[in-house]
Amino acid sequence: MKFANRCRDITSFKAMDILAAAMELQAQGRDIVRMEVGEPAFATPQPVLEAAQQAMAAGHTKYTAACGIPQLREAVAELYRRRYGVTVAPGRVVITTGSSAALGMVCELLLNPGDGLLLSDPGYPCNPNFVRRLDAEPQRVPVDASNNFQLTADLARSHWQTNTRGVMVASPNNPTGEIITRENLVALHQLTAEKQAALVVDEIYHGLTYSDTESDATDVASILEVTDDAYVINSFSKYFGMTGWRLGWAIVPEVAQEKINTLAQNFYISSPAISQYAALAALQPETEEILEQRRQEFQRRRDFLVNGLREIGFGINHLPAGAFYVYANVEKLTDNGEGFCWRMLREQGVAFTPGTDFGVHNANKYVRFTYTAEMDRLEEALERLAVGVLSS
Ligand SMILES: Cc1ncc(COP(=O)(O)O)c(C=O)c1O
Repeated sequence: MKFANRCRDITSFKAMDILAAAMELQAQGRDIVRMEVGEPAFATPQPVLEAAQQAMAAGHTKYTAACGIPQLREAVAELYRRRYGVTVAPGRVVITTGSSAALGMVCELLLNPGDGLLLSDPGYPCNPNFVRRLDAEPQRVPVDASNNFQLTADLARSHWQTNTRGVMVASPNNPTGEIITRENLVALHQLTAEKQAALVVDEIYHGLTYSDTESDATDVASILEVTDDAYVINSFSKYFGMTGWRLGWAIVPEVAQEKINTLAQNFYISSPAISQYAALAALQPETEEILEQRRQEFQRRRDFLVNGLREIGFGINHLPAGAFYVYANVEKLTDNGEGFCWRMLREQGVAFTPGTDFGVHNANKYVRFTYTAEMDRLEEALERLAVGVLSS
């Protein structure tokens, strides 16, 4: 059987490889501390579960409009008014099957074969593959601790090529948890406007940001506070704790509304109806209270994990501002981050992700931990890692 060339170019998602290996070890009876995959251990909030049951009982089991049920598009627009004080016409909100579909569709909307899209390295592993799927070119810009792992407008300008059609960033970012400052969002918008190019901002970790005693970069702005002329990506997966419901959204500039609707109709028909009705409850104040408590718990876990990792010898510049990831430097512990991950999984039963999942720039010097597991599990992981590091 001959497969298309792009199947050769699309790389595996290493966090998912580690996840599969961790689950296999668990199936053999091993106790594994799971810190490899970006998924809250918390269950989906109760009001959302109840709304899903009501949706099923009411027979909401059919296709919906391609861009989502009007109530949810309105509720998402309202979220932007509440959180950021910006007005978004509900017609610009496109409900998608996870933000993965939103990322894919926005790339389909913007890129022809051979076009380039600037992305940070390290960055979310699937992004280059959304670009490759269209026979376009991911153009990765190395970022590191010296620039707070931010793809700044200056860096974007110096990596701009004749085929570059836009910039895609995430704030807070995966794997670093770093945010892009408001000032830099403004500068990125100025640059893309000047180049008549697109700006795509993945805001999937908005809501999961924390106060920080080690850095002042905690002011998380939405790009919609800067311009209506950008593409926003977001999701119910992370902050709302609904990974398995496969529901996300994009907010597109008014001029793109009709085209994105046509793409959604053809490629996805619609997002899951039950998930959409359930998500209405996710945006209610009673759910927000639960989510706020969870956010505070994540902050406690972040502080605990960062402290513990530093004591063992992992290098962490400052507390990550958001998401639920710690991107830790392992140069003092090993010269092969990927090998270190596999060894710690097999020998110590701690699963985490190699930096090589997120790009090539200094990738083997880093690993990514998630702090989505409960505190006692994080404690267990730190004990095991300390033993593992001493015995190497
Ligand atoms: C930065 C970023 N964007 C998008 C996604 C995709 O999430 P989903 O499709 O569940 O919304 C992830 C998942 O880890 C992510 O980290």
